[in-house]
Amino acid sequence: MQITNAVVPVAGMGTRLLPATKSQPKEMLPVGKRPVVQYVVDELRRNGLRQVLLITGSGKHSIENHFDVDPVLIRFLRETNKEALLKELDFERQDMRYFYTRQKMQLGLGDAILHAAEFTGNKPFVVALGDSIIGRHAQSRTLSKMMEIFTSGTAEAVIAFEEVPEEEVHHYGIAEPETMPKDGEKFVIRDLIEKPSKDEAPSRLAVAARYVFSQRIYEALRETKPGKGGEIQLTDAIRLLIRGGERVVGVKLPPDEARYDIGNHESYFQAFIDFALHDPEYGERMRAFCRELLNENH
Ligand code: G1P
Repeated sequence: MQITNAVVPVAGMGTRLLPATKSQPKEMLPVGKRPVVQYVVDELRRNGLRQVLLITGSGKHSIENHFDVDPVLIRFLRETNKEALLKELDFERQDMRYFYTRQKMQLGLGDAILHAAEFTGNKPFVVALGDSIIGRHAQSRTLSKMMEIFTSGTAEAVIAFEEVPEEEVHHYGIAEPETMPKDGEKFVIRDLIEKPSKDEAPSRLAVAARYVFSQRIYEALRETKPGKGGEIQLTDAIRLLIRGGERVVGVKLPPDEARYDIGNHESYFQAFIDFALHDPEYGERMRAFCRELLNENH
């Protein structure tokens, strides 16, 4: 069965990126030429997904506006001889359907995903966190691979992972793998711990913002008690699946599909610089500019 539904949680307050996120969603911050969430949707489309439910919250209207056709803007571009810019709006017309629902209270990622139950029904679905881009300019095929593993019937959930430095394990869900995977390989997950300390972490394999689930995840989420930060954690629900005897599989991202986490300043700056330096139009000039800037300062 082909998976066509995706759920993109974008309800978080983005407090780690204040003041930029005071009155705009972090998912709308630009990375190079596009806002983060547009890369996420590009990646979903490239991997065959066609219906997207965005779980929003207060102050997230600009995300809906971004994916909507804007006739006033289109007319303005036509009337002012700026037709060339219309190609920048092509994404508005792609064969993607958008759905929106609001998470009323910030009860955690697990609670946000529960808002998708009616949308996905009994069909399997993808979860793509709206603040992470996979692969430079979202050129990632890992979701297709994850969906293939899922539809082959050998796993109840499939999750993307990346290796992070020891100092960063406390930001992520961390896996205990049955055997340590190489880049791009899949592995069976024995356990999953949300944001462990360095000492508690069973590995450095961090959940990388992409998941494939069956409707079983909802049952697990309904049983999940508040965990880290008093929130309903998706990681804890996956753990319940594993403890219930389900097979949960991880896929380690290949090296050319790095994950860009737009959740804190350091990784946001890195993502922006990386995308600007590799922009097809401006990349060369940006690289020359950076070389000059770095030379001046040494
Ligand atoms: C969430 C998940 C965490 C995961 C991370 C990045 O954390 O709870 O397990 O590793 O996304 O994919 P958050 O960034 O919402 O704190």
